[in-house]
Amino acid sequence: MCTTNNGPKKGYEMNDLEIIEDAFVAIKDGHFIAVGTMEDFHNRLIHANKMIDCEGRLVTPGLIDPHTHLVFGGSREHELALKQQGIPYLEILKQGGGILSTVKETRQSSEDDLYNKARIHLNRMLSFGVTTIEAKSGYGLDKETELKQLRVAKRLGNTHPIDIASTFLGAHAIPTEYKDRSDDFLKEMIVLLEEIKAESLADFVDIFCETGVFSIDQSRTYLLAAKELGFKLKIHADEIDPLGGAELAAELGATSADHLVGTSDNGMEQLSANNVMACLLPGTSFYLKKKEHARARVMIEKGVALCLATDFNPGSCPTENLQLIMALAALQLNMSPKEIWNAVTINAAHAIGMESEIGSIQAGKRADIVIWNATNYEYIPYHFGVNHTKTVIKNGEIVFQNEW
Ligand code: NIG
Ligand code: FE
Repeated sequence: MCTTNNGPKKGYEMNDLEIIEDAFVAIKDGHFIAVGTMEDFHNRLIHANKMIDCEGRLVTPGLIDPHTHLVFGGSREHELALKQQGIPYLEILKQGGGILSTVKETRQSSEDDLYNKARIHLNRMLSFGVTTIEAKSGYGLDKETELKQLRVAKRLGNTHPIDIASTFLGAHAIPTEYKDRSDDFLKEMIVLLEEIKAESLADFVDIFCETGVFSIDQSRTYLLAAKELGFKLKIHADEIDPLGGAELAAELGATSADHLVGTSDNGMEQLSANNVMACLLPGTSFYLKKKEHARARVMIEKGVALCLATDFNPGSCPTENLQLIMALAALQLNMSPKEIWNAVTINAAHAIGMESEIGSIQAGKRADIVIWNATNYEYIPYHFGVNHTKTVIKNGEIVFQNEW
């Protein structure tokens, strides 16, 4: 299976998925050099030093997870009981728990501890067929710890097979020391943006635009400052309350608007008209025990381009399993298997600005592929909660293999 159009696939185009039966893929120096049917392969007399017979299995581009909070200290299993008692996510945060409890643990962790912990999460992602991710900071909320998180992400990107696009999310919550002084806190984060730019520690800047966290006006001021410095933008938008984050993403020309559970029809139209990728995170709605989910079908009707991500983080979605998210997208968002595959490949590549390098099996792109223990693309979102990868190939090299 491959997608040859560089997309992004908007609205109904998300059902265009090129499938080649009895296909071959040729790789040289870590890149695809040709793709076609086996008949083509024999006709073109392609010479190969090494051959892998996939024995009729499904082969796809490596999965891309375009929204994760990869680097953090500790975990938050104690919040499960609070959730069962019906205490809302934002209430836990207001009481100094949630994101703020992870901030405490992240500040106390050494750079090496964070590196080793995040590496395990990355290994798990790779085993699930993920070959590129986006990773956000945001559990430091002070200069030293935010830089520490970004450096860890950069080091992991250089040493782990998974490639990482890095996002600065210093505006993730209001730290206790700035309680009731959120404008002052944002000013400090704006100063930090210059240092991050100078050290090339992030490609994107993101903000948690939410009731009790950062308002629309604060988000606008902050993101405009980031844009002026040359950062690309992302927004945690309309995750819990419909504040108008989607409209803001459209106004500012953000690369993506993420979550969008409460987004209005107008917000969706704005996303479509301004070519902002909608990044949907159904694992988060599921894990927050929400009855409402992002209105993916209306978004598709309105011509919005969708991608899917885990939102991997210790609070609202502790899973590295993007295959599970594909199943949730089918069941909770009513997305078709073809839409889902585009959402975790070419559209996800657009969401992190890497569409010219990854996201489809196409000559010239990096040879990131997954050979699945399945014979067709519909099987992966259907048989849920388990790992279907057989072989994961990154830049032409086998980096993970399931023995069964
Ligand atoms: O995308 N909403 C803000 N950030 C994360 C959750 C982070 C956390 O709970 O630790 C999210 O859901
Ligand atoms: Fe998130």
